[in-house]
Amino acid sequence: MEKMVIEGGVPLKGEVEINGAKNAALPILASCILLEGKSCLGNIPDLTDVTTLCSILNVLGLKTEQKAEKSLDICVEDESGVTAPYELVRKMRGSICVLGPLIGKRKRAKVSLPGGCVIGNRAIDLHIKGLEALGARIKIEAGYIIAEADELKGAEIDLAGAHGPTVLGTCNVMMAAVLAKGRTVIINAAREPEVQDTANFLIKAGAKIEGAGRSEIRIDGVKELKGVEYDIIPDRIEAGTFMIAGAITKGDVTLKNIRFENLTTTVNKLREIGVGITGNNGSCRVFGSERFKPAEITTLPYPGVPTDMQAQLTALLSVADGVSTVSETIFPDRFMHTFELARMGARIKTENGCAIINGVESLTGATVMASDLRASASLIIAGLGAKGVTEVDRLYHIDRGYEKIEEKLSKLGAGIERKKY
Ligand code: EPZ
Repeated sequence: MEKMVIEGGVPLKGEVEINGAKNAALPILASCILLEGKSCLGNIPDLTDVTTLCSILNVLGLKTEQKAEKSLDICVEDESGVTAPYELVRKMRGSICVLGPLIGKRKRAKVSLPGGCVIGNRAIDLHIKGLEALGARIKIEAGYIIAEADELKGAEIDLAGAHGPTVLGTCNVMMAAVLAKGRTVIINAAREPEVQDTANFLIKAGAKIEGAGRSEIRIDGVKELKGVEYDIIPDRIEAGTFMIAGAITKGDVTLKNIRFENLTTTVNKLREIGVGITGNNGSCRVFGSERFKPAEITTLPYPGVPTDMQAQLTALLSVADGVSTVSETIFPDRFMHTFELARMGARIKTENGCAIINGVESLTGATVMASDLRASASLIIAGLGAKGVTEVDRLYHIDRGYEKIEEKLSKLGAGIERKKY
């Protein structure tokens, strides 16, 4: 087992390079199931979620080869496999993104149901609805989603759900539709930059997709897609996390390899809280202030405040003046981190998908347990800003989405160390 030991209170200073986006890399890697020939993907982050997906793709007959740092060659060698096994899928809910490409290209798929998730219900009804509309026959049997089709045909599909659009559901339907016969129109599509990046990759490979990044996506099926070279977009959630780490320590941090335009709502909220941010596409500078102002935050689908930034923002607001509220509309139960933040002295009450935060002067170090990826980031941020030593346990969560986070933070001057025990 490993834990992160953090000596809090050191202002972070210097430059940090942001990785390629995990949540774009995953559907783009999965969409390689659809392609003929080799693709070379750049800006691929070194994360356990990426390794897990590569293992699933290997089982499905794709060869993956790391040629240089952050770059991966990938191509289909054998199309006979259609099973994504439970042993791998259970490690990562995002594995569901192989379902669309498998049914789209191989006309059969057997993908394990991902199972429970600590951030709340992760339904797949919209994925199934979309793929069925394209002509797939889908049943759930012995813990697996089993999909079959003779031929997929374009259709008009509304992917609106009770909590807004679905990111991977949109990717799955789009990936299944690119080789289908005729036109598919996705209404209420997710607009996240990662969906757009997946579409851009597929377009480069020969797909006909219009409207990605907007709520209506039109796809005209083509006969074949070819392997290409493509660079994944920078990770807006890793960028936002480093912004808050810089701010809470009252530091002065420059972020490199970012797309500022994808960070607009996070930046606006942070500025409202009193964080100094100047920047443009490519890089930005973040500097903290003596005290932070309270805020009302509601997570929403893009371009709203991302649910994947909620835990980190909650950590920052726990040391802001006055009362802040954080409403979580995407995953209303995603508040496990608040109980651990409370162990560090935060005053947070949660009810009905909302956290009410009474800001305190400062947090104090404690031993805390990470419950999921963004919760781990939130606890590390809290530890960096706290007085004394914080130990974050169950560290494996952080490696799913943050590449060498302790190395990056150490370079910025943080007192942070990964320890085996
Ligand atoms: C993606 O998950 C991200 N994962 C998540 O990031 C992110 O939190 C989430 O989108 C929301 O932005 C990846 O991209 C790999 P959804 P996804 O389908 O696509 C409901 C992280 O920390 N819903 O957009 O699985 C669902 O229950 C992770 O990096 C249905 O009702 O999320 C939720 O309330 C965690 N039916 C809402 O929609 C469905 O069929 C949004 O979920 C699908 C979803």
